[in-house]
This record gives sequence, structure tokens and C-alpha cells, in this order.
Amino acid sequence: MPVFLMKSLLSIVLFILALFAMFTMFEVFGKNGKIFDTEKLKKVHRVNGIVYSLFYLLIAYFCLDFILGTKAEPSPRAALHSVFALSVIILLALKVSFVRFYRQFYNQAKIIGVLIALLTFVMIGTSGGYYLLITKFGTNTPVKKVAASEEKPAGVKSAVRTNANSIKKGKDLYESKCYFCHDAYSNKAGVGPGHKGILKNPLLPVSKKPATPENVANQIRNPFRDMPSFSYLPDEDVLNLIAFLNTL
Ligand code: HEC
Repeated sequence: MPVFLMKSLLSIVLFILALFAMFTMFEVFGKNGKIFDTEKLKKVHRVNGIVYSLFYLLIAYFCLDFILGTKAEPSPRAALHSVFALSVIILLALKVSFVRFYRQFYNQAKIIGVLIALLTFVMIGTSGGYYLLITKFGTNTPVKKVAASEEKPAGVKSAVRTNANSIKKGKDLYESKCYFCHDAYSNKAGVGPGHKGILKNPLLPVSKKPATPENVANQIRNPFRDMPSFSYLPDEDVLNLIAFLNTL
């Protein structure tokens, strides 16, 4: 299962936990005639909060692992997502401290709780929600095949390295930076399009620019749309990556 799909599915659990936490809080503080036992509800709310934190940490682990793996520049959407995620964890720590230690602030804990729930929805909406939408809930729509009849501009292959060492280095780089979002050996779309035949087809799958090494190098440095930029990669690495892509 792609790591993004797993994250998105886990975030649905987080979403439900946030809703449930709101419900228990409103039942405790928002009603006069109570149908549930208040002490029990508070316990449920606390356990709910702990489970929420554990799921949050698990998802955050996947996120950080991805960032460390790709060292990619985050897209604007991903940057926004991390700001919301950081706010959630800070507010959560604040709320727990109000309930446990700084009891004078106890009343504020309620409004912070509502804020945490709201930020949880935005945090998930800008990440898991987005991912599930564009992949139709993980049922990966294959990228449209381009017509194979069109000719590639002549002389294009001249710049591509073909020695085994470059290809090997390119493959290693690909496995550390690209495989999260791309499948090298098929045309199935993950977050980005599959890369099978990427330099053999006449056009690049998404931008529909000619499939030249120059355009691929450009995609790596200045992505067409949602792909993170790898502008920090030295020329050497980009050439090796292209040597590997050329074998697909
Ligand atoms: C976070 C996900 C992600 C990572 C990591 C990623 N890509 Fe992409 N890639 C995408 C998306 C999304 C697209 C669709 C086009 C776009 O948004 O720029 C894409 C498109 C492409 C395309 C086709 C561009 C076009 O013009 O159709 C190429 C080639 C490509 N990526 C190469 C790479 C290489 C090489 C790496 C590793 C250095 C890489 N990608 C890493 C998400 C990613």
C-alpha cells in the first residue's frame, strides 16, 4: 500500500476521534439534563485524547520519514498542512497542561478543545482528504497513455548517460527520492504518474511536453505542478537519475 494511502486512511480514524472528543466534551459541559454519567464521560474523553495522540504521532512519523527520505521542498499545500499539524500538537499540549497543572485556566481548555477539533479537520483536509480525492480513494486511475505514433525530436538521446555505474546510482537515488510517489515499472498513477517508458514515449505524461532529458531535468528542478522541487540536487545526480529513467 502506498504510504500516502496508509496515512490518509489513518487520518480518517483521527477525524472520527476528533468528532467523538467534541461530542463527549459537549455532553459534559453543554447540557443541563444529563443522560450520561459525567465522570464516565470524562474518562472516555481522556482515553479518546490519548488514542488521538498516538495516531497523531504514528502519522507524524510517516510524514517525517517521508521528508527525511526525499529531502523534498514541500509544496505550498504540504507546507500549510504542516503548519496546521504543528498548531494541533501545541494546542493539545497546552490543553493538557491547563487541565492537569494550571487549573486557573481550566475554562479555556474547552475553547482550545474546539480549536483542536477544527484544526484537525483543516489538517486532514489539506492532506489525507486531498489525497483521497485525487486518487479516488486510492483506486489509482492509470495515467492516460500518449499516442505512440508521434515522433520524438531527433538527436535527443545523445545527452543521456548509458554506463552501468550511472544507471545504478540513478536507481539508488530514485529509490530514495522518487518511489514514494512514482511507480518505475508501470504506468499506474500513485501521487505522480508511473514512469515506465518515460523517455521512450513521445510526450511526458502530465505536462505533455516532449519527453526529452532536458524536460525531465527541468521537471526535477522546477516541477510542472504539485511535485516537490529537487532543486538542491547537483547536476551529477540529475544526470544519473535520467540515465536510470532512460532504462525504464
Ligand atoms: C511527493 C510526490 C513526488 C515525488 C517525491 C516525486 N514526484 Fe515526480 N511527480 C509528482 C506529481 C504530482 C507529478 C505530476 C506533475 C506535477 O505535478 O508536476 C509528477 C510528475 C513527474 C514527471 C512527469 C512530468 C511531466 O511533465 O509530465 C516526471 C518525469 C517526474 N515526476 C520525475 C520525478 C523524479 C525523477 C523524482 C525523484 C527525484 C520525482 N518525480 C519525485 C509527484 C512526485
